[in-house]
Amino acid sequence: MARFERHLFVCTNERPAGHPKGCCREKGSEEIRAALKAELKRCGVAGIVRANASGCLDACEFGVSIVIYPEGIWYGGVTLKDVPQIVERTVLNGEVIERLLIRDPRYAPPHMQCAILPLPPKRA
Ligand code: FES
Repeated sequence: MARFERHLFVCTNERPAGHPKGCCREKGSEEIRAALKAELKRCGVAGIVRANASGCLDACEFGVSIVIYPEGIWYGGVTLKDVPQIVERTVLNGEVIERLLIRDPRYAPPHMQCAILPLPPKRA
């Protein structure tokens, strides 16, 4: 069995104050990662699911940004109050939390693109 079955990469990148791109750290990503770690531990899955600190995920405008692998689920605008739901719904029950999905096709996993961006009707 693999050491970890799932990773939650939490962007903890920091940029200087006033940088035009901003950064996830100034939006509380370190606290969110710590809360995720604590919640994973509380739920008894810390040995198989890991909340990793990540550098910039190139989704700065959506921060705090998190990507969950192996599924490739991209969440944005994550706050501390979202942590219990992310663990309960996504990590433990495999459910995607629609309201947290980054609404940009660059961050949509292939199996979800139809739900996010409806395909144009087929032409005869
Ligand atoms: S600073 Fe977090 S995604 Fe770039």
